Amino acid sequence: VTAGLDHGFDAFLAGLDLPLAVVTAGSGDEAAGCLVSFHCQVSIAPPRYLVALSPRNHTAAVAATRRHLAVHTLPAARRDLAERFGGRCSRRDDTFSDVPWRPWRDGTPILADAAGWVVGATRDRHELGDHVAWVLDVVDASAAAAPTVLTTRRLGRLAAAHAP
Ligand SMILES: Cc1cc2nc3c(=O)[nH]c(=O)nc-3n(C[C@H](O)[C@H](O)[C@H](O)COP(=O)(O)O)c2cc1C
Repeated sequence: VTAGLDHGFDAFLAGLDLPLAVVTAGSGDEAAGCLVSFHCQVSIAPPRYLVALSPRNHTAAVAATRRHLAVHTLPAARRDLAERFGGRCSRRDDTFSDVPWRPWRDGTPILADAAGWVVGATRDRHELGDHVAWVLDVVDASAAAAPTVLTTRRLGRLAAAHAP
């Protein structure tokens, strides 16, 4: 990759203002969660959603053992939740301590303070490069009316728990 391409791509990305999300998987003591900016709707009917997870993240390892994942948007003022899920590894830290959540039907954590959430059943996985795309069939969803969600621009700098 040329220096010029790196610079141009960084500048392009810096110009985007992406909604952040927390992906959760697992249940009980085996729950895991991480912050993501790689996520979007990819089909209307059937309703499908995509999240891209780094194989280095513990959340990806737990998600690989489960049928469902949950994807949550965050209220704009909840930088604390982004720091929590982006800066801790759920293999070694107790990521969920003092974070209110309830189990979905199969135990997947639903964060009580989310702006909105989607539960999806994993349909396909595709290697994209240093991340793996999880294509989800949306099976349940809920959101506050017109929430203002936390985005990359509002978040500013935050170092991830691991490099991708
Ligand atoms: C702003 C920001 C965006 C991130 N986006 C992603 C992403 O799209 N996919 C991903 O796998 N990790 C992403 N991460 C990194 C993980 O959130 C982070 O490494 C997390 O602590 C991993 O936790 P885990 O090991 O418990 O899964 C991002 C981190 C930050 C700070």
